[in-house]
Amino acid sequence: ASSAKFFVGGNWKCNGTHASVEKLVADLNAGEVPSDIDIVVAPPFIYIDWVRANIKSAYEVAAQNCWTKPDGAFTGEISAEMIKDAMVPWVITGHSERRLLLGESNRTVGLKTGHALEVGLSVIACIGETLEQRNSGHLYDTIDIQLQALFENVQDWGRVVLAYEPVWAIGTGVVASPAQAQEVHAYVRKVLTDRLGKSRAESIRIIYGGSVTDANCGELATQEDIDGFLVGGASLKAPSFINICNARG
Ligand code: G3P
Repeated sequence: ASSAKFFVGGNWKCNGTHASVEKLVADLNAGEVPSDIDIVVAPPFIYIDWVRANIKSAYEVAAQNCWTKPDGAFTGEISAEMIKDAMVPWVITGHSERRLLLGESNRTVGLKTGHALEVGLSVIACIGETLEQRNSGHLYDTIDIQLQALFENVQDWGRVVLAYEPVWAIGTGVVASPAQAQEVHAYVRKVLTDRLGKSRAESIRIIYGGSVTDANCGELATQEDIDGFLVGGASLKAPSFINICNARG
């Protein structure tokens, strides 16, 4: 893989109770994870403050979403300013569940990403194609359009991690093969290189998400352009998530 620091994110999505979150944090705290990688867990908003206060410092915390604008009359939304104020350093933008279930456009994802960065958050920005887009020959133009919306809004790529999450691999148990994932990651790296230059492009983490488990992470982690993972289901099981954090051995 590239020289960039390995990154493992755990996206808990809309899962948990007070009891299960306490147990997960206790189990994560008891685990051995490498100190030379970045590990970030993203609990649902309602549990974030508790998790941030109780999880050990090996793990940072992320929000799963933010709003495009500062505080105001946006019922039900959470601003990047509030996330920052809550001492949560990271936010996920553009997850395919938000794009597909909530209709978030590329423009909205770009605006959220840009605003979160302006406020001082670091961002895990998600991109990825549906099976239909892949099968109809639109894999790369889908990725291009999603990246373009980010280029229009991101000035400082130093605080961006790009997550490639093919929609067909999310929550399906159908993981992209190491070659399939590497092919897209290499393409994303090339686009970043063309836009930002080689050394900048090599410093940006491109992580893979979609049915990552402790059984398949090892081989994925050896691929040239896979700099880590964004884990959904397996991040809810501490032993699996800890193994994934140790994917590079
Ligand atoms: O953001 C992570 C994600 O969408 C992948 O989910 O459950 O397939 O690991 P999962």
